Amino acid sequence: MSTLEPAMDVTAIVYTSKHGHTKKYADLLAKKFHLPAYTPAEAAKALREDERVIYLGWMRKAKIMGLVDALQRYRVCCVCAVGMMPMGGMANEETRKQNAIAQDIAVFYLQGGFCYNDTSGMDRFIMKTVKRGIIPMLENKVHPEPDEACMIRMFREGANCVSIDNLKEVIAWYRGRETADVTDD
Ligand SMILES: Cc1cc2nc3c(=O)[nH]c(=O)nc-3n(C[C@H](O)[C@H](O)[C@H](O)COP(=O)(O)O)c2cc1C
Repeated sequence: MSTLEPAMDVTAIVYTSKHGHTKKYADLLAKKFHLPAYTPAEAAKALREDERVIYLGWMRKAKIMGLVDALQRYRVCCVCAVGMMPMGGMANEETRKQNAIAQDIAVFYLQGGFCYNDTSGMDRFIMKTVKRGIIPMLENKVHPEPDEACMIRMFREGANCVSIDNLKEVIAWYRGRETADVTDD
């Protein structure tokens, strides 16, 4: 039997996004679930501290940005980590461990987007290391998966891998089902 808290009584979505990919996922979920989506600053004005929320944050060096504050302030019942790695590449349980997320909170990983050429300073320095480590491995694959090919494009010319299909598991969790069709309402 699942130890996860149910999705009932969720009143809002709160998200932290730097380049807009996490915001796009938050907006897609907001439309799907008929919930408002707030940045942390907006949420601080609109929500009570004990409200139940779904939290989405972009990943920086395996950490979900803004999550620590959200966990302190709200009753977070679902966390979506948005990164550049392929959908199958980040295990949800690994994300839970790296971000000290309690067992009763649902955790999902979503592939977002990135543009290496738009990155500067420390962020570019960090991503240079990632590029050196991961891209040759992916480029050597004879048949890369579509989300792996998308990650290669992120470094070459920039790419956006946000898709409603990536939200299938989140939608199923919200509806209390094993699986969901993204066209379900
Ligand atoms: C400095 C830096 C570190 C990052 N670290 C990770 C990471 O650990 N795992 C990952 O999957 N993506 C990582 N990313 C990629 C971002 O999480 C990804 O581009 C995400 O879609 C950004 O979301 P946003 O557009 O909402 O800001 C990193 C990006 C930067 C710039």
